[in-house]
Amino acid sequence: MAQWTSAVGSGQLARLIGSQQRPASPGRRPPAYRALADGIRLLVLEGRVPVAARLPAERELALALNVSRTTVAAAYEALRGEGFLESRRGAGSWTAVPAGNPLPARGLEPLPPESLGSMIDLGCAALPAPEPWLTRAVQGALEELPPYAHTHGDYPAGLPALRQMIADRYTARGIPTMPEQIMVTTGAMGAIDAICHLFAGRGERIAVESPSYANILQLMREAGLRLVPVAMAEGLSGWDMDRWRQVLRDAAPRLAYVVADFHNPSGALPDDAQRRALVEAARSAGTVLVADETMSELWLDEDLELPRPVCSFDPGGATVVTVGSASKAFWAGMRIGWVRAAPDVIRSLVSARAYADLGTPVLEQLAVNWLMNTGGWEQAVEIRRDQARENRDALVPAIRRELPDWEFEVPSGGLTLWVRAGGLSGSRLAEVGERVGVRVPSGPRFGVDGAFEGYVRLPFTVGGAVADEAASRLAAAARLVASGAGTGAEPPRTFVA
Ligand SMILES: Cc1ncc(COP(=O)(O)O)c(C=O)c1O
Repeated sequence: MAQWTSAVGSGQLARLIGSQQRPASPGRRPPAYRALADGIRLLVLEGRVPVAARLPAERELALALNVSRTTVAAAYEALRGEGFLESRRGAGSWTAVPAGNPLPARGLEPLPPESLGSMIDLGCAALPAPEPWLTRAVQGALEELPPYAHTHGDYPAGLPALRQMIADRYTARGIPTMPEQIMVTTGAMGAIDAICHLFAGRGERIAVESPSYANILQLMREAGLRLVPVAMAEGLSGWDMDRWRQVLRDAAPRLAYVVADFHNPSGALPDDAQRRALVEAARSAGTVLVADETMSELWLDEDLELPRPVCSFDPGGATVVTVGSASKAFWAGMRIGWVRAAPDVIRSLVSARAYADLGTPVLEQLAVNWLMNTGGWEQAVEIRRDQARENRDALVPAIRRELPDWEFEVPSGGLTLWVRAGGLSGSRLAEVGERVGVRVPSGPRFGVDGAFEGYVRLPFTVGGAVADEAASRLAAAARLVASGAGTGAEPPRTFVA
């Protein structure tokens, strides 16, 4: 069996190589084969060419790049020697990353707040509760609790009142929904865990955006799924539909997972045309498309025209399974999420739940129901948006001032800034950051197989003077990493081709 899960065409690879900005290095230019090998290695490390993607045959690439076949052969040979390419006669050559380098992928591990001390924690993209709404919601829930106290308390599909409420909210957004299409879960994590287990057995493929949310990627790895990364389009322009169509056609994954609304980590917001096209491509490939709407209410720019929900292109839920959550719009401590899908899918998820967590706490469900019922939800989300906007608008100038060569685009919503760290290793910045008092997750946590070594993710969780201090600590970490100081005996791990 071939070891590749997607393919890059010669024209596409030539375009990607042509689009790379080369550092203007003084002195002698490297030989053509070396420049080509470095270009391909960089594309793999940045996630723009996925790992396990079949590269074009030498002759085809030579033609597309207008270089000799010997140049391409020498570049491929160099990449093989460095562990970035594997080949087998008859099966072709596919991209790889060297074993043990970069760091193994991990999710994010939130630190208990009381253990942080003077550390500025940029590890977690979650904000404090938008009070007074948490207190009010819990008081409202307590008043509604007595009738439930007389039951056994296990509601594997969720409280009927909350299922109805969530269904009504989809209907109000223009997607008619019945409560039988809703299951309340323990956070979006609980929802996605259940979906992965229902639809995909160990070893099955799941296509994911590259980059994507670290803990969901880790959840999928732990479920034994094979991740097929699909690089996001440049900047904030959303999905590259040519790549998506190709992956869905060639790899025929069982599932695909996307964060269409203020993507974590980049903040991208694919438009209606991309949404429609992705749903159509998933439908014709027989792939179930999981649309994670965790960030969907966090638009931060005024007058932003919001695209339609992904499920509006498949209202019956035969192809699209939607996941929602109260964690980002309201508070992560609620641990309330939900799934919207076809009623038979919900029935299967609910019956599988008997062997997982049995249900979601009743009091928290009542609190979210109270918020949605009273209009408190909208007011709380407004507070949440104000906090995130203020933090974003403090962090962005602070980073630009302290770290002018770090590159990013400012998203119109969501909770995160995806930053190319001026040629430095994100893993090394994360290590050194801990020592200078700032906790920041490195890019590879958001990638598959070590991609995004040159990135870090910064959340909109600190503002004002703390944002300034965070930026100055990050600049101190960057100076240490760049100089090699503070990193033990090893040389700095830089990330330029
Ligand atoms: C895109 C995305 N999905 C899911 C989650 C996890 O959500 P929950 O706290 O509801 O489990 C997060 C949290 O950061 C997220 O960003």
